[in-house]
Amino acid sequence: MSAHPNAFDPNAFDAVDLIRTKRDGGELAPEAVDWLIAAYTDGRVAEEQMSAMAMAVLLRGLSRAELSRWTAAMIASGERLDFSGLSRPTVDKHSTGGVGDKITLPLAPLVAACGVAVPQLSGRGLGHTGGTLDKLEAIPGWRATLSLAEMTAQLEDVGAVICAAGSDLAPADKKLYALRDVTGTVESIPLIASSIMSKKIAEGTSALVLDVKVGTGAFMKTEADARELAETMVRLGQDAGVPTVALLTQMSTPLGRTAGNALEVAESVEVLAGGGPADVVELTLALAREMLAGVGRGDVDPAEALVDGRAMDVWRAMIRAQGGDPEAALTVAKETEVVRADRAGTVERVDAMAVGFAAWRLGAGRARREDQVQAGAGVTLHVRPGDEVAAGDPLFTLHTDTPARFDRARDALAGGYAVGAGPVVPQPLVIDRIG
Ligand code: URA
Repeated sequence: MSAHPNAFDPNAFDAVDLIRTKRDGGELAPEAVDWLIAAYTDGRVAEEQMSAMAMAVLLRGLSRAELSRWTAAMIASGERLDFSGLSRPTVDKHSTGGVGDKITLPLAPLVAACGVAVPQLSGRGLGHTGGTLDKLEAIPGWRATLSLAEMTAQLEDVGAVICAAGSDLAPADKKLYALRDVTGTVESIPLIASSIMSKKIAEGTSALVLDVKVGTGAFMKTEADARELAETMVRLGQDAGVPTVALLTQMSTPLGRTAGNALEVAESVEVLAGGGPADVVELTLALAREMLAGVGRGDVDPAEALVDGRAMDVWRAMIRAQGGDPEAALTVAKETEVVRADRAGTVERVDAMAVGFAAWRLGAGRARREDQVQAGAGVTLHVRPGDEVAAGDPLFTLHTDTPARFDRARDALAGGYAVGAGPVVPQPLVIDRIG
C-alpha cells in the first residue's frame, strides 16, 4: 500500500478536523491517515497536534482498516529494505521484552544454521529490560552498526545479522514514540502494534514470529492485554502480506538464570554449546520451530543444530563478521554480593520485575538514552520457583563495578521473592499460539 498523493499536499486535510473526528469516535479516511503521518514526519503537523491525536487514539482506538493504513503510512515514511535477492528466505523474531530475555542471541544463529536468513534489527535497552545490542556490545570488538551492503553480504555468507536499525526505517515511529513517551500515550494497543510492526515490516523480512510476553516483568501485565496486542500485530502482518504468528509467553519469572549484559551472553553461549537453562532452551526451540515453519521449513528440527554444534559455528562466524572475538573473555564486574535465604523452605516466587530493577540499579540498564551501561553488571539467579533451600543458601549474586549500588539493588529485590511452605504449581512457559 503506498501513501496517497494527497499525503504531501499541505492543504489536503486539516489536523484539527482530524483530531476532532477521532476525539468524537469517528473513522479517519485512508487518505487522511496517509496525510497525517506524512505531515507529522516532515513537521507540518505540530507536536501538540499529534499529542492530541495520540490521546484520542488511546481513548477511542483505531479500526482494523485505520490501523492497517496507519502502519502502512509509518512504513512509507522511510525506506523499506528488500532481501528478496538473497539465495535463502528471511525470517525475523520480535520480543516485546522481558527480564533475562536473551533468546535472540542463540535463536538467530540457530535458525541460520537451519538454512534460513535472519536479519535481526535490534535496539538498546531503556528501563528494566536490556537491549540486545547492549548484550552483544559486552563482546570485545563487536560492532552494532553495519551498512546495508555489509548486512546483505553477512546474511548471504553467514545467514544471521544482529545489528542496529538505521534511522531511515519508519522515521515516523521514531518521532511518535518519543512523543508518546512524554504524553502518557505509550499504552495504546493500536499505537504499540503499529510502532512494532512498522519497523519489522520495513525491515523486509518475508515472515515474522512475535514473542509477546505476559506478566509482572512484561510490558503487558495481563494475559487479556497481551492476547489483544498479539492478535492486533498478527492481523497487521497478514494485512501487509508478511505471514506472522505470535507466541504468548510467561514473564512473571525471569528467563534463565541471568539478567545483565555479559552474564546473558555467557548463558546464551551455554545454550549454543548444547547446555544452558531448560526454559531458555525450550523457548529458543519453540520460536525456532515457528520461524522455520513460517518460511516453509517446518520439517527441519532445530534441536539437532544445537546439539551438533552447527548453531555455535554460525554464532562464532556472526560475531567475527561484526569485528567481535567470540573466544575473548567477557567482562566481569569488579564486585559481587550474595543474597542468601533467611529460612529453609520452598522458593515460591522470583519476580521478574524485581530482578529487572535490581539488574538495572546495578548498572546493567539505563535511566536515560545517553547513559552508559556496565557490561558486567547484573543478577545471577541460583534458584527458581519450586526449588528447596536451606537457611543461608545463596539465592542471587549481584554484580556491579560500583559497590554503592548494592543497597538499592537489594531494596529492589526485597519483596520480589518468597521462601515458604510451598507447594508451587509449575506455570507453562508458552501460554498460547496466535496466528
Ligand atoms: N516497542 C516499540 O517499538 N514500540 C512501542 O510502542 C512499544 C514497544
